[in-house]
Amino acid sequence: MNSDEFLAQIAEEVQVCKKCDLHFSRKHGVSGEGLTSAEIMFIGEGPGFHENQQGRPFVGAAGRFLDELLELVDMQRQQVFIGNVVKCRPPGNRDPRPEELAACDVFLERQIQAINPKVIVTLGRFSMERFIPHAKISEVHGKAMRIKGRLVVPMYHPAAALHQPSLRSSVEGDFNQLPDLIASAESAPELETNTPEEKPDPKQLSMF
Ligand code: URA
Ligand code: SF4
Repeated sequence: MNSDEFLAQIAEEVQVCKKCDLHFSRKHGVSGEGLTSAEIMFIGEGPGFHENQQGRPFVGAAGRFLDELLELVDMQRQQVFIGNVVKCRPPGNRDPRPEELAACDVFLERQIQAINPKVIVTLGRFSMERFIPHAKISEVHGKAMRIKGRLVVPMYHPAAALHQPSLRSSVEGDFNQLPDLIASAESAPELETNTPEEKPDPKQLSMF
């Protein structure tokens, strides 16, 4: 299977997944979309109202802001991949629960393996914690870390930044740095941590 087929397969599995309670209220699973060979992957939290209706990531107000942020650095959605840590909408946009994050993680893990991006931009706290456990977003946002060969750049969530001027200028500033960060990807400091992404999982590989 090539990466297009891998990602299509994941999207199909997400639509019928019942591994956590979020499937009860889902209209559409939102596996993510974009270039399957993207160098940059943006990872948000989970679908909101509009995403659940349409089955696409970041299509509401936060999504329009994300589009503006991408424009700041002359990027388009089609050049990147956009996904979330949970693929089904938490009711009323509540925070995803630890057991939901854990149940859904295998999909994100497989997406990262298939896309193999150089850079992962985490949007918001839940996505950051998946890569940099116990970090404080106010301290680490905009700082690139190399995690087992991949550059991870945590940023504030566009939905939070949309209505808070200080976070907004912070996320805009972080986005503006992205091209330089990507260019200097090789020299970013390595973070010593065990990320789920890098755990060898021969079983998973041999399934396909
Ligand atoms: N917020 C997210 O975290 N993800 C989306 O897809 C939409 C809004
Ligand atoms: Fe499955 Fe993830 Fe949806 Fe839970 S959120 S039902 S684990 S796809």
